[in-house]
Amino acid sequence: MLHLESIAELRAACDGARARGLRVGLVPTMGSLHEGHRSLMRAARRGTDFVVVTIFVNPLQFGPSEDLDAYPRDLSGDLAQCAEERVDVVFAPSANEMYPNSAPVTTVRVDRLTNDLCGAARPTHFDGVTTVVTKLFAIAGPCTAYFGQKDAQQLAVVTRMAQDLNLPVEVVGCPIVREPDGLAMSSRNEYLTPEQRAQAVVLNRSLTRAADAIRDGERDPQKIAALVRDAVSGQSGVALEYVEVRDPRTIEPLTTIEGSVLVALAAKVGTTRLIDNVILEDTRCNAR
Ligand code: PAJ
Repeated sequence: MLHLESIAELRAACDGARARGLRVGLVPTMGSLHEGHRSLMRAARRGTDFVVVTIFVNPLQFGPSEDLDAYPRDLSGDLAQCAEERVDVVFAPSANEMYPNSAPVTTVRVDRLTNDLCGAARPTHFDGVTTVVTKLFAIAGPCTAYFGQKDAQQLAVVTRMAQDLNLPVEVVGCPIVREPDGLAMSSRNEYLTPEQRAQAVVLNRSLTRAADAIRDGERDPQKIAALVRDAVSGQSGVALEYVEVRDPRTIEPLTTIEGSVLVALAAKVGTTRLIDNVILEDTRCNAR
């Protein structure tokens, strides 16, 4: 496994792989790797021939009062996990390598899909994500890129960006990996105290109830949102920021639930902001 820190070396490695007829698979991450990230590496290993994992805590996607400095970092542990997953290249650049002039004057902004849900509470977040992901796509070149449905809005935004800009990248979404009690895996779960960790389980539990109600035929997005709100409000220590019932691809609100549906939420558990969601594909077939 190669551990690279320079853009030029990564570009050369990906060009070299393609010249040998290999398909490049890209897994962008911010490190502090867990089973969720590893599921993306495995999907890339299955779907492509030359797997590149990027590890970069991207300052551009953190707001001024967010957790950039506190964000967990463990490069040696991450490298060991990537080696176990038979990754070909780990690209872990410095902030100076990615942004040599501190903040770039050129950024990439996806409109509309970024305005609400997480974009409402984190107004500069998605511009930071789309800018760094565009840079990674430009460096890696033609490839298949793997993103988690855990960040459903991010997945929709990056997919749309690749389409709109004709980037030579196929974006593939992968299912959410959860802890045995249902909590979605996240690098930020490390911030939780044992008590908060127990309280956080309500997030997945409320989404499971929402999914059951939709499968049982509930078609009113307001009622689904209310069901989640009620379930979360019954749990002390957890403050819901939003729950939204949306089209998973366009992130547009739904007036009635039909076809694919995303139920997404964000909540604060203590001071830790967590997100989770459930996606039901083609609810028409699920109706009993
Ligand atoms: P990060 O939070 O490290 O996540 C990297 C990738 O892992 C994302 O595609 C995310 O959706 C996926 N992921 C995280 N937890 C997951 C889980 N429990 N199950 C499945 N997939 C999961 O998302 C980012 O980094 C950044 O915004 C990035 C895209 C790297 C740009 O900086």
